[in-house]
Amino acid sequence: MARKARITPIIPLKVTGTGSFLPQKTLTNDDLAGFLDTSDEWIRTRTGIRSRHLLEPGEIPSRMGVVASQRALAMAGKKPAEVDLFLVATNVPEEPIPGTAPHVALELGLRRTPFADITAGCAGFVYALSLAGAWLQAGLARTALVLGTEALSRFVDWSDRSTCVLFGDGAGAVVLERRTEGSGILGVALRGDPTKLDLLRIEAGGVRLPASGETVQAKKHFLKMEGKGLFRAAVGMMAEATRAAAAQAGIDLTDIHWLIPHQANLRIIDALVKRLKIPEERVVVNIDRVANTSTASIPIALDELVRAGKIEDGQILALTAFGAGACYGTVILRW
Ligand code: COA
Repeated sequence: MARKARITPIIPLKVTGTGSFLPQKTLTNDDLAGFLDTSDEWIRTRTGIRSRHLLEPGEIPSRMGVVASQRALAMAGKKPAEVDLFLVATNVPEEPIPGTAPHVALELGLRRTPFADITAGCAGFVYALSLAGAWLQAGLARTALVLGTEALSRFVDWSDRSTCVLFGDGAGAVVLERRTEGSGILGVALRGDPTKLDLLRIEAGGVRLPASGETVQAKKHFLKMEGKGLFRAAVGMMAEATRAAAAQAGIDLTDIHWLIPHQANLRIIDALVKRLKIPEERVVVNIDRVANTSTASIPIALDELVRAGKIEDGQILALTAFGAGACYGTVILRW
């Protein structure tokens, strides 16, 4: 294992709780092959995905975020009333107005806590994490709850084999508490490249193109993706951000004990790891079981790692993601 770097965090904090939730229903690649012109072999070899969890038609999406948050709060030993900032990373809100955060906050029993949705593509969780950290450091909050929750199954075209096979539903949350020294955020590199905004879009349903009979007929409410373009951009974006965050942290890439990349495609993760020369055993991968859960992917993987008892105090984690926008970035944390 790498040495423990003795660097002062730029944002001292402690992750005192993690939690996640995956819907009960699963859909395997073979299930998909039952109604699409695809195969388990194609999906596995191109993406690393074998199965994904999906909400049932009647299930309320915010329920995933509620349960993930409750699990994180229980681990932290915190009551909802002790949370003084609640940020939710999500791409497609529970409702256009008022979004997702108030729905989850209502069920959690938050009544005066400031809450907000953060939209930054699949990088939303790393964006929200660093924003919450800055609030803690500024003394504006002592305990923050950061949630990534996503139900893209409701926005993929289930007859489009090039996108629907990639995504799953889920939620993951962390509780952050203020500290004065020791653990915390060592480096942050967040980026946005709007010249790539065409790579991943839902064109209709917003102000530019409100819902109409035509938008529905033209399938403009579904996720459209330029897979190849995204694939090509993803590796370079996450590698650059990880190098920049490590430089800011004053660590070498060899100091990273755990790399938790956004789970979009195993081949993207493999190429990233090769480029950064990070040993395979330090890379957290669960895409085979959960597919791409967008903003929930990093906190779900983190929660699984924590609950497996694999992270030790003092270890260094790099969380890196890319997605629509194109927003991307890396947060480096000392546990
Ligand atoms: N099953 C079988 N065939 C499929 C298929 C599927 N599920 N999806 C696409 N194909 C076909 C295509 O139609 C194409 O056929 P053609 O050559 O006859 O036109 C062929 O497979 C190759 O498609 P291509 O798009 O070149 O495959 P690819 O190797 O680029 O893999 C992705 C496609 C989507 C898996 C890959 O580009 C990818 O993962 N991109 C990144 C996506 C991403 O990260 N999105 C989330 C961002 S947060």
